[in-house]
Amino acid sequence: MISKETIERIRDTARVEEVVGEFVNLKRRGTNWLGLCPFHTEKTPSFTVSPAKGIYKCFGCGASGDAVKFIMDHEHYSYPDALRYLAKKYNIEIEETAVSPEYQEEQNLKESLYAVNQFAEQFFIDQLWNDPKGQAIGLSYFHERGFSDEIIKKFRLGYAQDDWAHFTTAAKQHGYKLEYLKAVGLTSSGEKNVDVYRGRVMFPIHNITGRVLGFGGRTLKADKSTPKYINSPESEIYNKSKILYGLYFAKSAIIKEDNCYLVEGYTDVISLHQAGIENVVASSGTSLTEGQIQLIKRYTPNITILYDGDAAGIKASFRGIDMILEAGMNVHVILFPNGEDPDSFSRKVSHDELVNFLSTNRKDFIRFKADILLQEAGTDPIKRAGVVRDMVESIALIPDGIVRNMFVQQCALLMNVPEQTLFNELNKLRRNKLKEKQKKERGESAEWDVLPIETIKVEPPLQLELNTHAQEREILRLLLNYGHLDLVYHEKNEDGETIEYREKVHEMIMDELAMDDIHFVHPTHNKVFIEYQNLILNTHTQESVQQFFVRHDDDEVRNLAIELIIPRYTMSKNWEERLHIFTVPEEEKLHAAVVEALHQLRLRHINLMIEDEKKKLKNTTDAEVIVAIMQVIKNMEEMKKRLSEELTTVIHPL
Ligand code: CTP
Ligand code: MN
Repeated sequence: MISKETIERIRDTARVEEVVGEFVNLKRRGTNWLGLCPFHTEKTPSFTVSPAKGIYKCFGCGASGDAVKFIMDHEHYSYPDALRYLAKKYNIEIEETAVSPEYQEEQNLKESLYAVNQFAEQFFIDQLWNDPKGQAIGLSYFHERGFSDEIIKKFRLGYAQDDWAHFTTAAKQHGYKLEYLKAVGLTSSGEKNVDVYRGRVMFPIHNITGRVLGFGGRTLKADKSTPKYINSPESEIYNKSKILYGLYFAKSAIIKEDNCYLVEGYTDVISLHQAGIENVVASSGTSLTEGQIQLIKRYTPNITILYDGDAAGIKASFRGIDMILEAGMNVHVILFPNGEDPDSFSRKVSHDELVNFLSTNRKDFIRFKADILLQEAGTDPIKRAGVVRDMVESIALIPDGIVRNMFVQQCALLMNVPEQTLFNELNKLRRNKLKEKQKKERGESAEWDVLPIETIKVEPPLQLELNTHAQEREILRLLLNYGHLDLVYHEKNEDGETIEYREKVHEMIMDELAMDDIHFVHPTHNKVFIEYQNLILNTHTQESVQQFFVRHDDDEVRNLAIELIIPRYTMSKNWEERLHIFTVPEEEKLHAAVVEALHQLRLRHINLMIEDEKKKLKNTTDAEVIVAIMQVIKNMEEMKKRLSEELTTVIHPL
């Protein structure tokens, strides 16, 4: 364990603005520093660092803490690992107090493997720059490819001699044990103890803190029988599904640009960096894993995949991209001209041309996929129907209802199919998925309240928790997001004339709840509701109302408000451009959504009251009381029936 004294020294030495500054672009504001919060997506900075107090706080999402907490949360480190990270940064020697022998052994093994890799990285660098053969073969290869000295150094590229055991011999001489050399895959696992990498240029693979986990070694022979790349095997320190090549060098640019470019190969990453595009990582030729997606998601919700134009390869990648959609990320794609990959293309054009190319050729994934599939299907109606199904399958994976609706509209246009057809197909898919999920989770309370409007058709089954929380939340969600919008609807008056009504969402909700004398049961919900009412009296805008709650002092109010508003914050940058497309579906259905939310809350209250009455029934033997209670229950059942009917006929006429 790290000693108390060491921990104190680390805490005393670490400057919060320096530690945070490595990950967040901070600008001075008086005595504080201000930047975009790395823990939630925002466009106006509310992440504040106070050097004087040694803490940071985000006024948007509430994340707060000191330098150690920041590293723990941002890098997903354990407490000791965060301390070690800071110790390394500030050159503080760590004094350890006794730990369990097993833990110590595991740590020692890992440290030994890191040490071997670090030695190897430096060894290959030395070979490249200082050895005559390294210079003549390795360095000139990189130069021929157009890599600058600066970029070769930045990525710590190296050269492994074309010799049987040049590296292994040197490593042994420096005291590195064969067992470790083999464990990281630098020395062959057989009896002969020869170098695994011979006559190859070396690309070290770093984790997010810059430690060397392994290598990719590219052959310099044209010979088809030699594998182009040899990559390190999985080891105690190298878990391939959780690593992306280049992330260490890309992370701050990814945060800054709020986008991550995904390419295939080592050389694509390096060439793009050289061309000034630094927010780029490589999947290293394999399809993306869940772990890698989560890794990117820590820094940005936006991913842009760069393809070189091979149709078969592109189609094969669609399934992997569905995984990214499912993770709630926004996916774009850029197709390179025939025969070009990011590496070759970026070396052909100027920086400005490249930036221009990237921005003008960026397509939304859904649109890109539809284009490709439609082109392939041609005019064949059966094939086109298949494309519709295929597209809906992708869209159904997107967790955010508003984004989903936007894509349905886009696809309907693109494929020349009525929107409703797509919605029907989509709802079918999502309902099936939900059923499967519920089957899996049976016993636990089903989270029906997170379902988007388009899939709520019936009242939730009664075995659910009997409270009004979900219904109250939905009302608050509508208020916080749409409270200021006008509802226009038509109803018949007593004389049978159709009258147009116009009122604001918040007016309708406030009036109806007041008329029914319904109060929010959940204390936080009630607090938000009451404060909302007060704000509205002072003619606030929708925006300022949201800001008020998102920056609220009360943790619970703030968290709730953020959760209810959050889809806006997770939108991609071009949210504004698209705002009119995004919000149309829910706005159009707004009247139905408000009526439904109110009905659901009423229904739930009635159910609760019925349960209450039934309890009373159990506790009495007085015949008169029983009759009275039965009458009350009967009335309520009738009310319930009427409400349920209205729910299905008025709101969901299909
Ligand atoms: N790859 C691999 N093993 C191979 C071929 C490819 O591991 N035999 C991985 C490497 O991570 C490589 C990526 O797939 O970077 C993309 O492959 P490719 O485009 O063939 O390689 P490049 O890195 O682009 O190399 P070059 O430009 O030198 O051909
Ligand atoms: Mn290439």
